[in-house]
Amino acid sequence: MPILEREPPKGRRESYVLPKVPVPPLKQTLDMYLSCMKHLVKEEQYQKTKAIVVKFGEPGGTGELLQKKLLERSDKTYNWVYDYWLEDMYLNQRLALPVNSNPAMVFPKQNFKDRKDSLRFAAHLITGVLEYKERIDTRVLPVDFARGQLAGTPLCMKQYYRLFNTYRLPGHKRDTLVIHKPGSTEQEHIIVACKNQFFVLDLVVNKKKLKEMDILTQLEKIVKMAENSEERQPPFGLLTSDGRTEWAQAREVLIKDSVNRESLAVIEKCLCVLCLDNPSGMEVGDTSRALLMLHGGGHEKMGANRWYDKPMQFIVGEDGVCGTVCEHSPFEGIVLVACTEYLMKFMTGSPSKMGRATSVSELPTPARLLWKTTPHIQDLLKASAERLQRLVRDLDMDVHKFEVYGKEFIKKQKMSPDAYIQVALQLAFYRCNGRLVSTYESASIRRFHEGRVDNIRSATSEALAFVKAMTDEKASLSDSEKMKQLWDAINAQTNYTITAITGLGIDNHLLGLREIAQELKMERPEIFTDETYVASNQFILSTSQVPTTVEMFCCYGPVVPNGYGCCYNPQSDHLLFSVTSFHGSTETCSAVFIKALDEGLVEMRDLCRKSNKPQMYVRSTYIHQLC
Ligand code: COA
Repeated sequence: MPILEREPPKGRRESYVLPKVPVPPLKQTLDMYLSCMKHLVKEEQYQKTKAIVVKFGEPGGTGELLQKKLLERSDKTYNWVYDYWLEDMYLNQRLALPVNSNPAMVFPKQNFKDRKDSLRFAAHLITGVLEYKERIDTRVLPVDFARGQLAGTPLCMKQYYRLFNTYRLPGHKRDTLVIHKPGSTEQEHIIVACKNQFFVLDLVVNKKKLKEMDILTQLEKIVKMAENSEERQPPFGLLTSDGRTEWAQAREVLIKDSVNRESLAVIEKCLCVLCLDNPSGMEVGDTSRALLMLHGGGHEKMGANRWYDKPMQFIVGEDGVCGTVCEHSPFEGIVLVACTEYLMKFMTGSPSKMGRATSVSELPTPARLLWKTTPHIQDLLKASAERLQRLVRDLDMDVHKFEVYGKEFIKKQKMSPDAYIQVALQLAFYRCNGRLVSTYESASIRRFHEGRVDNIRSATSEALAFVKAMTDEKASLSDSEKMKQLWDAINAQTNYTITAITGLGIDNHLLGLREIAQELKMERPEIFTDETYVASNQFILSTSQVPTTVEMFCCYGPVVPNGYGCCYNPQSDHLLFSVTSFHGSTETCSAVFIKALDEGLVEMRDLCRKSNKPQMYVRSTYIHQLC
């Protein structure tokens, strides 16, 4: 059994044995699946699906066989769903990483006096990164404990050990998550991107670790070298912004030449990428800063000054636009928050150890990575640039601070703030589109060994009843009836949350059954080719709570062309939403969605105020009441 350890202050060693992710009972998952989808598809389609599901689950049927195989897999592995999930969620996906997959964390806007000031910030940030990495390598990070629902249980720490030693290698059909041994001596450098050039900054020289002022000295050299137009290399980072198959194909062309092979090898082993951005020329607001993190503004701005495969990529813009954009496959946003909050506190809490002078020690000049191009490679770069530009033009983003109230007001109503916000998102979507759709809310399953996430399907039938009551002018329900429906929706959402975080969600289970059928080389069971199943996996509304305790926020793109990405950060007195969609879809508009969300949140508050009698905190654990 895997053991997580932490060193408590008094030197006493504590260890936590984490349970395995359970395999939910088959019947429970199938029943939940039907009740999750019943109100989201047409009646005729639902009846067809129901017949398929009943057949799948009948005694001695395909479902039972696959369930047995899944239980055997669970006996043999630490986490039966991990590999299936990683491939399905990330490695098999072919879309470009920027916008479609990589989330970003936007740091508070900095006010740099000049370029040198921004380099000082960058050197201090990298010093913090090294300090944090040291904590990871020496295993002194304190174990996280669950907060909110079912608080207090220890959480799996494995994702922290993948922050700096991983790399997503593109493949023709499937990418690979390369994992270097933690603390490996091969990983003693970072890559610095400046003016679309890539430089190697060795962090250990003559067996000595670089100090902060040494890092600053090296950064200054890099900036100077990047300005030398005679030695300028083509913007190879652009290739990493392309579709995964396109990038894999381009990489195959690149590695025919040893110069390119060597440059790629150095990048693929680095600890992190530091992007020193020029001023973008954009007006600096929350939305524009988020855009610059997600896609760099395209090849004409900072889009080529990136290497999107690398999980940790820090951006320090001369105009004070700073943050990180991450390749998502090795870790979740919550781990990213813990790491970046540590860095922000390090930045503000520990004075820069720069002194007045920069380093006097003799340090070798950082190497510029060289590339060999051919006309064919030039064409590939041009094609990648065009595709990135299309993505940039298409993204419709709106970062919005809802300031009327925050989670304290919701708690006072004795409601779960997360459930309340999810219901508000359903209301906003219904108001914009007159229907509810398959919704994804990430639910952490880090209570289990190597646990990542499952899905809370927030478009419950109770939520549908509530949003109809709130929007149907003819229905003329009384406030107390609407309030009852709000409570039903909140309770259904809270119950689903508990189900998902305790490892009994349906998405991972259905994925497991589907994948094990494939491993057994069975024909894909009808339940997985059925229209309803396909629709159930088109997450038109893709949501995630990423709360922070310091001033910063997370954002990401939609996961389908006609969808919304909605990342929210509940604070005591306000709620921050980052909403994304694509201009190319006639069904979506981020500003319209935000407006509907604002209105709905105000109406929900008014409803709570009018009813003015908070009920008991209901935390039912009965799974069969769900959806
Ligand atoms: N009455 C009063 N207070 C309540 C309440 C109620 N009925 N229900 C919950 N609360 C309180 C909680 O105790 C908690 O208090 P705290 O702020 O002092 O800790 C607070 O409200 C928040 O709880 P809640 O809103 O219910 O949400 P949660 O913190 O349990 O979060 C999930 C729910 C689903 C977001 C969380 O379990 C999770 O999985 N998070 C990870 C998401 C993720 O992975 N994101 C990144 C993806 S890349």
